[in-house]
Amino acid sequence: MKTKLLIFGITGDLSTRKLLPALHSIIASGAVKDLQIIGVSRREVDTAKLLHDSLGNTKLAPMVSVVSMDLAKAEEYKKLKSSIALKDDEQLLVYLSVPPMASAQIVDFMGQAGINTPNVKLLFEKPFGVDLTSAQEVISRTAHYYNESQVYRIDHYLAKEMAQNIVAFRGGNALFSHVWNSGVIEKIEVLALEKIGIEGRAGFYEQTGALRDVLQGHLMQLLSLVLMDIPANFDWDAMPEHRLKALRQLESANPRQAVRAQYEGYQHEVDNPGSLTETFVSLHLTSRDERWKGVPLILTTGKALNKKSTAVRVYFRKFHNAQSNCLVFKIQPDEGIEIELFTKKPGYAREFERRSLSYAYSEDEALPDAYEQVLVDAIASKKSLFTSGDEVIESWRILQPILNSWEMADQPLFIYPKGSSTHTISSVE
Ligand code: BG6
Repeated sequence: MKTKLLIFGITGDLSTRKLLPALHSIIASGAVKDLQIIGVSRREVDTAKLLHDSLGNTKLAPMVSVVSMDLAKAEEYKKLKSSIALKDDEQLLVYLSVPPMASAQIVDFMGQAGINTPNVKLLFEKPFGVDLTSAQEVISRTAHYYNESQVYRIDHYLAKEMAQNIVAFRGGNALFSHVWNSGVIEKIEVLALEKIGIEGRAGFYEQTGALRDVLQGHLMQLLSLVLMDIPANFDWDAMPEHRLKALRQLESANPRQAVRAQYEGYQHEVDNPGSLTETFVSLHLTSRDERWKGVPLILTTGKALNKKSTAVRVYFRKFHNAQSNCLVFKIQPDEGIEIELFTKKPGYAREFERRSLSYAYSEDEALPDAYEQVLVDAIASKKSLFTSGDEVIESWRILQPILNSWEMADQPLFIYPKGSSTHTISSVE
């Protein structure tokens, strides 16, 4: 089936840094054929220059055209519809690479113009709302013109190779399926630590903060992959339902078990001396699920830390202290899986030493970028890596008590020096 891909915001940062390069790769690999790309922009665009600037070549030029229009004028969408000229045996993917408020209005105007036939799919970028109420509003506003089956909400963490591997590894290895419960697992940590700061995104970050930017979507999704059931006849297409079931079992977060902190110099960077926006958050969750009762689930993310590491760490109960007990899913960098082990140190003395059993991808094994995977799956109508509206709402339900408490300035904000470790920040409490 021929696919027409409409990109709102084709000249923007996300499109030029992620989307166009991902399209370039999937077309070159042959994974996607018969694709026509239609960019939408407020201003006239020199397509060849745009492609050259973002890809270093203009190979995609024959399949790219750009329509300029005023996105805030409802009547312009009728014209857009005729220039797309979608046929019954074609599909249209609409990629909204624009700020959330703009995308809500674009969705309304497209619906009103009739660009919502069953062969139209919408691809949204986060944030999906900024709290429980706004998320419910965004979702029901979209539902006015589009069925949930037409909506693809992107959480690029779900599409990372190693995130998918959590499911494959858990399901495919009897050794681990047997022990995946609170009887054997003592604690689970999900971490997304970054060395970089806010990288000039002051306006965006001031309104967002670490909890909304990374924890609510990316980390909650990774956690659900670790907790969810993987039945024997596991079907990848049913993944959103399994993730949702796991999220539904989580208790609402307790603000007293959350650490919020901000890196030194942030307020100057955003030119707001009183800013309370957190650049670091760590919190404990618990599950009502019998399988996970009593297991602390610790989610941590932060910017300007001492290292870049996204990982899931699963700790097993020890019989005694001289035992190793950790399984690590290294989502990035150095993608792989590692089991820390104590083994006998070679030599005459009978001593233990720490070793690891690890599995990593070889240098020449290129892993597809998350955006390539997202596009390939959306074109093929595979929804396993996309977040359902119910998952989004559930995730906000769990975190809302923390947002409420922070709004009432109920919890302290710690300031940490750039380059701190999570351990140092969490122990400032
Ligand atoms: C984005 C956040 O969703 O994820 C950024 O907006 C963050 O603040 C980024 O830096 C991290 O993504 P990745 O793929 O580099 O881990």
